[in-house]
Amino acid sequence: MTHVLVIDGTGRGHAICDLFVRTNPSVTVYYGPGCDALTADRIVSVPRIRLDDPSTALDFLAEHPVEFVFVSHVDALCAGYTDVLSAHGHQVIGPSAAAARLEASKERGKRFCTDHGLPTAEYAAFTDAPAAKAYVRQRPYACVVKTDGLTPDGDGSVVCDTAAEAETAVDAFASAQGADLQLVVEERLYGREISVFALLDGADYLLFPTALDFKRTLEGDAGKNCDGMGSLAPHPQSSPALLEQIRRDLVEPFLRGIAAEGLSYTGFVYIGAMITDSGLKVIEINTRFGDSEAEAVLPGVHNDFTELCRAVLRRELDRSLLVTDGLARCSVALTQGCLDPADPTATPGWPFGAFATGQPVLGLAQFPRDATRLFYANLRADSDGRPVTSGGRVLHVVGVGRTITEARAQAYRRIGGISFPGMRHRTDIGAAFEAGSPFPTSAAPAVAETRR
Ligand code: AMP
Ligand code: GLY
Repeated sequence: MTHVLVIDGTGRGHAICDLFVRTNPSVTVYYGPGCDALTADRIVSVPRIRLDDPSTALDFLAEHPVEFVFVSHVDALCAGYTDVLSAHGHQVIGPSAAAARLEASKERGKRFCTDHGLPTAEYAAFTDAPAAKAYVRQRPYACVVKTDGLTPDGDGSVVCDTAAEAETAVDAFASAQGADLQLVVEERLYGREISVFALLDGADYLLFPTALDFKRTLEGDAGKNCDGMGSLAPHPQSSPALLEQIRRDLVEPFLRGIAAEGLSYTGFVYIGAMITDSGLKVIEINTRFGDSEAEAVLPGVHNDFTELCRAVLRRELDRSLLVTDGLARCSVALTQGCLDPADPTATPGWPFGAFATGQPVLGLAQFPRDATRLFYANLRADSDGRPVTSGGRVLHVVGVGRTITEARAQAYRRIGGISFPGMRHRTDIGAAFEAGSPFPTSAAPAVAETRR
């Protein structure tokens, strides 16, 4: 029996815990802060651990020793979890706080890309609104206006069609942030997005399957950007040729950049990119797995994840081969909407404005224990131990099949068994990619998909 500690508390965190216990019968995962509504075998939530305070984990570890700690939430990475726990002698997987700046500051991430040859859109950084607006007016192309730091709902980027829209976005950020204004303005890219994931041991990497994240809040990719309303994995355009480009143009320059800057980096990198007519372009670097991509990607992984983590800690990932089942998965986020959709004054719910929490969630215990997955996100146990909603994305339901059509049909069928007041989800996750033909990588189960 071995114990590990996962630092997270999202649907992604649950998916990582699930990967540990599903692929190794001898591992018990402490999950801090985790989700106290979660009742899973060998996943033990530790609510007293706080994402913003590594000393809470040190206190826990003093009483509950573990083999290693896996830090997968950007807030914890920025709070110095990896640095502090390592300094106290713990084995830790996760980038240092300095490396997490690649995600926490858009300007830092963009500069890293241009310094190390990762293709990305032209950009400029600003601390005053008039200069940003003048820049926007001079551009011969449409712009995206981004606030520099992390935003709680993933809504810090405004994708604009016109200079006028971009100027309005600059003004909106300026009035919200005042003297602290920090913006990145960049060229708008066109194409299809792709989420790229690799596990790093500091010297080498293992490519994980790609995914397509549905970031817009409303049906038909309308509404604003948010953390994601669902994902497909693998990405519908995934092919050996594309994976080769991903290695050559994105992941290997990233690794070289990390080495050149002497950044301490183990664990996942998530590169959000656009597949454009002129090749792959980086949109953002994230220093952890994507959420809701993890929910669609990780259930397809067959390796013993504890062993992969040991290889990371020994810096021996170059000897590992990733084994996946090659099936298609579709994850759909169930979010907290408004309680009375008939009320014309009500916002639709998360992430449009204030929304109610504490709503009782029904149907969890009846969710079948099979290849589909149900991942807990913003959910907590009330004083009677019953699950209630506690935030925007409450649950992620993941269907699986030989085709996208099968996977999404299964996800939506399973959603039918779950309910909470104000429950809202997109009904069109993956719909545009349905086809009768089998998914490209589904030829045989247990496909060894990637090496290096
Ligand atoms: P970010 O805040 O950088 O994570 O971007 C959030 C989302 O905004 C991305 O996933 C894209 O959907 C969109 N986006 C960001 N930058 C660009 C860009 N340069 N061109 C087009 N869309 C973008
Ligand atoms: N799904 C987008 C993110 O994790 O940032």
